[in-house]
Amino acid sequence: MPTIRPELPEDYPAVFEIHRRAFGRPEEAKLVEKLRTVADPQISLVAVCEGDVVGHIFFSPVTIEGQPSSFQALGLAPMAVVPELQNQGIGSLLVKKGIKVAHSMGENIVVVLGHAEYYPRFGFKVASRIGLCCEFPASDEAFMVIELEPRALRGRSGIVKYLPEFSAV
Ligand SMILES: CC(C)(COP(=O)(O)OP(=O)(O)OC[C@H]1O[C@@H](n2cnc3c(N)ncnc32)[C@H](O)[C@@H]1OP(=O)(O)O)[C@@H](O)C(=O)NCCC(=O)NCCS
Repeated sequence: MPTIRPELPEDYPAVFEIHRRAFGRPEEAKLVEKLRTVADPQISLVAVCEGDVVGHIFFSPVTIEGQPSSFQALGLAPMAVVPELQNQGIGSLLVKKGIKVAHSMGENIVVVLGHAEYYPRFGFKVASRIGLCCEFPASDEAFMVIELEPRALRGRSGIVKYLPEFSAV
């Protein structure tokens, strides 16, 4: 059974390799390196299996530019699990723990741009149905949001802007 814990500096090389291998390219791994230095607040968790770091999840701030005012939320991205251990529930443990940590930090809204069939199982809903859209081109179903407190969005709508580092990926 994997354990989930906060990422430590000595995990950085393993985390780089997890993203590089899971995504089949280095861009997401490099994005994590940049986000660690600029994202505030940030959540960075790893999954550890028999002493090996095998999964990673990161959350960074997003700004929801809306009416009547802009407000901040968290964006889940990127996350990855080593290819040989995917589909064994490790990603789910990372998402659930990440959401729990976000809530304990006082965050009430988390967005994700990702697999439309995967994130709804954790409570994410199609964001456009509650008035949020993503600055990046994506299908409607791929951009999702979860409210960690009832009515956290309170009918507020707007465009979700990620940190500039995401634009390079
Ligand atoms: C997405 C990812 C993090 C999930 O981690 P995991 O440990 O395999 O996930 P879990 O075991 O908790 O859940 C497995 C479920 O995820 C689904 N899933 C995995 N990859 C998926 C994909 N590319 N598209 C849609 N669903 C996917 C599986 O079909 C499975 O669904 P099921 O439970 O209905 O059978 C992992 O597959 C991964 O690293 N993928 C490559 C990188 C990536 O795509 N990251 C996410 C970007 S949004």
